[in-house]
Amino acid sequence: MTAHLSPTHHAEAKNAAYRAEHAEPQHGAEVGAPVFDPNGPSLLVQADNLEYLKTLPDASFTVIYIDPPFNTGKPQTRRSYSNKIVNEGGDRTGFKGKSYSSVLQTIASYSDSFEDYWAFLEPRIRQAHRLLTEDGTLYLHLDWREVHYAKIMCDMIFGRESFLNELIWAYDYGAKSTRRWPTKHDNILVYVKNPRSYYFNTAEVDREPYMAPALVTEEKAARGKLPTDVWWHTIVSPTGKEKTGYPTQKPIGLLRRMIAASSRPGDWVLDFFAGSGTTGAAAAALGRRFLCVDQNPSAIETMAHRLNVDAVSFEAYRGVPRGASVLFTPHRSIGVRGGTSRDALMAASRKALMEQRTKLRQQVQPVPEASCLFVRHESTDAVEKQMRIRARDTLRRERKRQELAKKRAEAKASDTKASD
Ligand SMILES: C[S@@+](CC[C@H](N)C(=O)[O-])C[C@H]1O[C@@H](n2cnc3c(N)ncnc32)[C@H](O)[C@@H]1O
Repeated sequence: MTAHLSPTHHAEAKNAAYRAEHAEPQHGAEVGAPVFDPNGPSLLVQADNLEYLKTLPDASFTVIYIDPPFNTGKPQTRRSYSNKIVNEGGDRTGFKGKSYSSVLQTIASYSDSFEDYWAFLEPRIRQAHRLLTEDGTLYLHLDWREVHYAKIMCDMIFGRESFLNELIWAYDYGAKSTRRWPTKHDNILVYVKNPRSYYFNTAEVDREPYMAPALVTEEKAARGKLPTDVWWHTIVSPTGKEKTGYPTQKPIGLLRRMIAASSRPGDWVLDFFAGSGTTGAAAAALGRRFLCVDQNPSAIETMAHRLNVDAVSFEAYRGVPRGASVLFTPHRSIGVRGGTSRDALMAASRKALMEQRTKLRQQVQPVPEASCLFVRHESTDAVEKQMRIRARDTLRRERKRQELAKKRAEAKASDTKASD
């Protein structure tokens, strides 16, 4: 069943050797969950990232790339902040010498939704800062709606002197507004842990054609120019080979540039909003090791296939009894017919999961250089519980909607019959 997951015997053998050396039965699983080991293999981790990041050792990663969702789906967590400016002995001196809490209050007054976003992102950026090596770099991928707030947050966590660049990823695809300038770019903030010792080497970075090749020598025109802080790059083509089907997938070309410039072969690269695993794919292709974290079962399935997860460690996860339950259920396609009993949901979910795996096998190209072990962190239990509750509620609503529609249709039919 899992042969397709490991296209190279070499990667499988490497992982098997590592497992044999390190396996210790834990939490009732058949195989011990491998922990992060700086000398060990790449990892794919299912977890709530904040809980998992806390378990990782300081200064372990040379590159951290994250592409967080803007809408975290969390309930409003309104907090109030005092307006006092606390410089000495306060929480931390921040922007223009004001304290962190006073800056936060100023920002929160502009946007309620940002307050939630801040509460979600801030502790995770703090972890990213802790986890970077002294020569390490954070790439924070955002869009025009949140970048300005996040810049202030990062200035306060990293220090303004650690801000290296704001990269603009410009693309030209999709509908265009006629009511304002169409927004066709993302923003990537680049922060280094230490502005005096960060690693940056553009020797391996892919080059771009000159805009006016006639103005440079033929040799230069043939070699191309180094990218600037504005990167023109197509989105992932909806019909191309790179596409995984994961909705927010970013182009691998962007990740290759960042990782090539800011790390060396063998270094560790972390993405804790990993989605379809673009960071892992780019890191593996460039000979770096990767740690990809996501909480979403669908992201895990996609990455498992794309990054050639180790079959044995992944089987242990599939053995977890709560497993997939309703997580893969296509909510709108079941309903009254299947019911919302646990058995019906499990069956629908298993079917949807099998369909997703078949689709992944047909569509997604595994990265030949990639191989990784799988870890299911215990924080996943809480995440899955939330997802199950949400899925069950959606299904119940859907079931009611269908029942109501049926009753209306029956009433209409009997009215028509009566008037005949
Ligand atoms: C915008 S997507 C990342 C896409 C990715 N850059 C790619 O190229 O495929 C954000 C991801 O963050 C994950 N995520 C959101 N909140 C999370 C959390 N608290 N812990 C772990 N993953 C989370 C989502 O499941 C989603 O896959």
